[in-house]
Order: sequence, then C-alpha cells, then structure tokens
Amino acid sequence: MTEQDLLKTLENYGQYHILDHYRTLAPHQRQVFLETNRELDLRLVFDLFRQFSKKGHAGHARTTDIGPPRIVCIPRSACEHDDALRARSIGESLLERQKVAVLIVAGGQGSRLGFEGPKGTFPLSPVRGKTLFQLFAEQVRALSARFGVTIPLLIMTSGDNHEDTVRFFHGNRHFGLAPDSVRFFSQGVLPAISPDGRLILRDEVHFYTNPNGHGGSLKALSDSGLLARLIAGGYEELFYCQVDNPLVRIADPVFLGHHSMMDAQVSTKVVRRRSVEEKVGVYLDVDGRQAVIEYSDLDEDHMRALDDQGGILYWAGNTAIHIFSLSFIRDLNSDGFALPYHCAKKSAYVVSSDWEPASIDVWKFETFVFDAVPLAQRACCMEVAREEEFAPVKNKEGPDSPDTARRALIDLHRTWLEKAGVEVPPDTKVEISPLFALTPEETAEKLRNRQVAISPEVYIE
Ligand code: UTP
Repeated sequence: MTEQDLLKTLENYGQYHILDHYRTLAPHQRQVFLETNRELDLRLVFDLFRQFSKKGHAGHARTTDIGPPRIVCIPRSACEHDDALRARSIGESLLERQKVAVLIVAGGQGSRLGFEGPKGTFPLSPVRGKTLFQLFAEQVRALSARFGVTIPLLIMTSGDNHEDTVRFFHGNRHFGLAPDSVRFFSQGVLPAISPDGRLILRDEVHFYTNPNGHGGSLKALSDSGLLARLIAGGYEELFYCQVDNPLVRIADPVFLGHHSMMDAQVSTKVVRRRSVEEKVGVYLDVDGRQAVIEYSDLDEDHMRALDDQGGILYWAGNTAIHIFSLSFIRDLNSDGFALPYHCAKKSAYVVSSDWEPASIDVWKFETFVFDAVPLAQRACCMEVAREEEFAPVKNKEGPDSPDTARRALIDLHRTWLEKAGVEVPPDTKVEISPLFALTPEETAEKLRNRQVAISPEVYIE
C-alpha cells in the first residue's frame, strides 16, 4: 500500500483524527508510520466493525439444532481396545513415513498468568524446572529419534514475543533439535477500534493492535509460505496444540490413527467437563455438523442439560488439541480466509488524544481455531482422560495455574512409575524426562531391569 492508498483508505472510512495526526508528523516519522501500518488490513477491520455494529448482531450464526456428537471414547471393551491398537499402528506408520509436523501456538498475550516474557519460557516441570518449550521440544526430539525421521516443529509467535522466543530457542541450542527443523512464524495483527468506529493510536506511529486469535495460525501458516513448503516436502498432517498445556501428548499415534481411519480433515481431543459451570468450549453436533461452541456463546439450557442418569449431557470439553490435514488448511485459505471473526468488547489502557494514559472501551477482532471444525467435511473427536492430557496454565494461582499443572505432572508420572512396579511414597516429587519415556508402557519397559533410587525428588532420565 502506498502513502496515497493508506491516506485514501483512512479518509474513506472517516478517520480524520488519524489524518490530522499524520499531518503533524515529521517526514521521517511519516515514513515509519507508513512502513508499520501499510500491511494492516484496514478494510477488513471496518467491514467487521460494520457487521458487529448492526443492531442485534449475535457475533455468529444462530444454531437451531444441537445434539451430542459422535465421539471415540476412552476404550473399555475388548473391541474398543482393538480399535485403539489399530489406530496406534496407523498413526505410527504416518510418523515413520514422515507425514506429520507439529505446531505450537504461542502468540497469546498470557495476561492472566502475568509472567514477564513468552509463556513458553515459563519454568514449569516439577523437579528440573524445565520450561514449557523444553518439555514440548524434548517430546518432538524423542519422537523423531524413535521413528528415525524429521518432525518439523513450528512455533507461532506474535509481534510482541517473536524476538524473545527465537532468542530463547537459539540460547538453548533448540533443545537438541536440528535448528532448521524448528520454524518460527508470526501471526497477523488487526487494529482494535473504539465503539464509535475510530482507530486508536498506541504511540505517534503505531495503531493499537491485537493478535488476530489462535485461528490466525491457519492463515499465517499459509501466508508465511510454510504450508506450501510442508506440502511440497510430503507432509500431510499437522498436530496442533497450545503452549499452555504441559500434559499434551505431542503427535499421539492413537489420535493420528483415528484421524486417519475416519479420513478426517480435522480432529479434536476432548475431556469430560468437570461441571456445568466449567469455562471450557463444548464439542457438539450443531445443525448436523460437528462444532465447538465457546462456553460464553452456549445458552444456559444446553450448557446445563443433564442426561437420564444425572450426568452432563453435553460432556465433551475442548482441550484445543487438534490434528489438521494440510490440504484442509490450504482449502481454508483458497478463497480469502474462511474462519469467521469474533468481536471481543474489552477495556484497554491506551494513550488518549493528548497522550495521557487512559482506560477506554475497545473492540478487538479475532478468529478461533476450533471454528474450522464445522467447515470440515469429515471431523473426528476423541475422548482422553483429563488427568493424563490436559492441565492448562492460564492463571497466576488457583485453578489452571502453574501449581495445578505441576501437581498434574507429578501425579501422572507417579502413576507411570507405579505401573512399572516402583513404589513412590506420598509427597515425593516425580518427573520423567520426555527423552526417557513418553508413555507408561515405555516407562515400564525401560525400568524393567533398573532400580529407581527414591528421594524426595525423583527425576528419571
Ligand atoms: P488464551 O486464550 O488462553 O490466551 O490462548 P492467552 O493470550 O494465552 O492468555 P490470556 O487470555 O491473555 O491470559 C490459548 C492459546 O492460544 C494462543 C496462546 O498463546 C495459547 O497457546 N494464542 C491465543 C495465540 O497464539 N494467538 C492469539 O492471538 C491468541
């Protein structure tokens, strides 16, 4: 976009306060203003503003028919166990044939955790204090070694944490991964807007912007050229997870296998909702298609519905662990970007017109990755045990905090040791390195002829 184009666009959308401000800038500042803002999709923001300003706009399509979806449940019967074994061997074959890449989305602002620096650099593991990034990178390293392949690790950052994230991996020598197998790409940003439709300045030369949501990963992957490179390299499936869940089983072969057996374009892991109040997205059948609805968008009746036995009828809570077929991501980008935008109405601390900090109302636009589910022709949903795979770090303390995630890791690894026949006294802190084992079966196998010295802190490597 040239200077003329940018100024014309601002004029067309009545942004005279920005044009007035622009005229006060010195030539070198104008240059920076142009360079930093020319990539912003202002037309999209004003279209969204118009859309969300319409009276009665619900933010998303109203649903008419909600029901329980088809879910691959945790195996109980012999037949279900056989299915899981078949899925595992299909998933392992995908890994062996180098068809799988891994994406961790880490572009969020992590405001609830209130940690200085990217969330992935938070020291989390209970004994060694390994960071979230290290825990994931070591899993990728262990899987790559086991299957004798390169599993690309893609990390989505945002403008605010990109440099710090890249520096962190370099400083830690990519945790033993081949440097060129780790790829960083930044998600897009969109300017926020005031409720009366005015763009907001963050400083003399920048608009106040926000990352475009985790759904932006599916766009940025394509825009960055990485998607095309993966496809050209013969990769077919993308394992997707969030940076905040240390229990995630990266590229779980059973999950990959079910995805493949159903010929799914997208797959999702779910856990049983703790209560009807839990703030978690719900996996449902909506108008004949599978979908995830955010807890805040689901009406009370469905949120609280119980089955005949008094259990939660719509029990499947979204873990934000997915597999996407790369061809599906390509389709989502083939005619513009297919995911719908949501509008978050929040207050933000910004500079006011006389450059004094002030709290004002802003509208932020973002996309959610799970909105890809109903766009798929075929979707697969698989239940997993919460205590084995889901302990997100969201808050500084209380529920979903570093303390609860550490506790979950200790409890999980304790059960792995116990299944391997090792007795662990209560209050013992346990941590098993991903480089030692990724599953309870592997732990038992490797500990068969080995004594484990028990101390208050047990680290198995
Ligand atoms: P959350 O919705 O928990 O947001 O993101 P957050 O930014 O990490 O934390 P709060 O709400 O400010 O406290 C879930 C996952 O999606 C990623 C986050 O990095 C996290 O892994 N995410 C979120 C992005 O990558 N980009 C975004 O724009 C938003």
